[in-house]
Amino acid sequence: MSQTWSPTDYQHHAAFVAALGATILARLAPQAGERILDLGCGDGALTADLVSSGAAVVAVDASAPMVAAAVARGIAARVMDARALTFTAEFDAVFSNAVLHWIPEADAVLAGVARALTPGGRFVAEFGGHTNVAAIVVALRAAFASHDLTFQSPWYYPSPDEYRARLDAAGFIVDDIRLVPRPTPLPTGMLGWLRTFGVSIFAAVPETLVARVEQGVLELLRPTLCDATGQWTADYVRLQVEARTRTQG
Ligand code: BEZ
Repeated sequence: MSQTWSPTDYQHHAAFVAALGATILARLAPQAGERILDLGCGDGALTADLVSSGAAVVAVDASAPMVAAAVARGIAARVMDARALTFTAEFDAVFSNAVLHWIPEADAVLAGVARALTPGGRFVAEFGGHTNVAAIVVALRAAFASHDLTFQSPWYYPSPDEYRARLDAAGFIVDDIRLVPRPTPLPTGMLGWLRTFGVSIFAAVPETLVARVEQGVLELLRPTLCDATGQWTADYVRLQVEARTRTQG
């Protein structure tokens, strides 16, 4: 299931994604002169902060329209599949924000990240972890089932133990890995979120049913994720990772 992205829609509904990336960017602590790969740069909003640290940044993303938006900001971005990175010992650090939950083939990603780094190079990443958007997933399942449809999640939300084992197998030393609950207010509500991030999911829904399934999801979630003022909050849980490649053997 592949998701298509529009830079304009993303900016309208999901600008918070880059803003909330400031925490993990601070954990990376980029240094002037370091060579850093931004894995899944999107429209480059957060990459621009990396660049302003003085690091030499290369950015990649699977979406051509998003890469074009990043290039328009002056970022050295190119289209590349995270499961097939083509770099070898070129970076002091690999950084990734809010992307890796879209890629179930985690081992292929980690093999490419390890290959891209110099010995001792850092991998600092944040993405959805175990129990991320659990309420939303349950509501999607229920709303789909009520129309005899099967919801197939496109997302990968590993636990710290699972991801640590994958990092270890890929040749990393894990310095820190943790789940951080982050309830996240949605600027354009749950419908905006579903229409931005659920495009691939709703592609499987007959057009005549889309509005009804969307309304079903909203009604199931309203009691828990929408407050009395009408503000929706998504039940985000982030997996934060700090690791580095072994310097030998
Ligand atoms: C997330 O950032 O956790 C996320 C974004 C879109 C869909 C699912 C999860």
